[in-house]
Amino acid sequence: MSVVNQESSNITNLSPKQDDMFTNIINGLTSNPKTIAAKYLYDESGSKLFERITDLEEYYQTRTEFDILNQSHASIAKLMEKGADLIELGSGSSTKTHVLLDETNLNSYIPIDISSTMLTKTVCQLEKDYPRLKIHGIVADYTQSFSLPELGGNKRVVFFPGSTIGNFEPFEAAMFLKQLSNTLNKGDGLLIGVDLKKDQDMLEKAYNDKQGITAAFNMNLLTRMNRELNTDFDVENFYHHAFYNAAKSRIEMHLVSKVNQTVHLGDRKIDFAESETIHTENSYKYSINSFQKIGSRCGFKPVEVFVDKNKWFSVHYLEVE
Ligand code: AVI
Repeated sequence: MSVVNQESSNITNLSPKQDDMFTNIINGLTSNPKTIAAKYLYDESGSKLFERITDLEEYYQTRTEFDILNQSHASIAKLMEKGADLIELGSGSSTKTHVLLDETNLNSYIPIDISSTMLTKTVCQLEKDYPRLKIHGIVADYTQSFSLPELGGNKRVVFFPGSTIGNFEPFEAAMFLKQLSNTLNKGDGLLIGVDLKKDQDMLEKAYNDKQGITAAFNMNLLTRMNRELNTDFDVENFYHHAFYNAAKSRIEMHLVSKVNQTVHLGDRKIDFAESETIHTENSYKYSINSFQKIGSRCGFKPVEVFVDKNKWFSVHYLEVE
């Protein structure tokens, strides 16, 4: 473990493993059907486009979760108790966390993010905003196994907002939750945002916004591959397609080839038939019950769930058994 001393000394860098994008993408594009892991949607432009998605009228998730946290802050603070350590996975700019930091008498706040630049900026700002709170950022890939530091609080609560769990395959979500409950102690908590199953039309609109920001987010993957892997995708020859697969309770995002074509990647030729797709993301939707069942199988007892009045989104508080 190495400690980086940039603007703030309160950051530990667990040096997340370098990702082999080239090999992973070759494997995905030569498999049948063609797939690319959703994490590759998030280069700098992709991350900016995702930020814009979160502000879209059709993309109800971010604001609904934010409203739930705001409306339920007193109950959430009670569940977390005084003196807890709050650990946020994929903290980014920690925007949603302010309400918890404001309302809860925490021992410490531990934001974890893969981007050391983002984390340094966030920690510096939070140190100014919350001078009495212990803040310690960790640069790590929370999808890889890592241990959580002993922080001296009376319990640890992991905060995993944004329904990012929905982008995991159900078996990955279960493995992740199991690993988390093994890392935590009995009585520790998990506060997690989970998007709910709902009307198909509303779900599909959220991933096919009128302004075309989600389409641009998906298509950006082709531009990224051209720039970083030297592929020769003609972006005009593909289009964004997102739909709800009801049998699997998930939104699927694809890039569809408009024509028969061949794309080059290293010394490989990748053939596309007309209408063939690259599957770029799944976003699973759960019922309250189905998510609690997964939690229970993975060592978490459901304690409370907060939802908005329309039942579009849920924030679960689960406790390690
Ligand atoms: C980050 N994640 C929860 C988003 C989702 O809704 O699955 C990613 C996204 N993809 C398209 N729009 C938003």
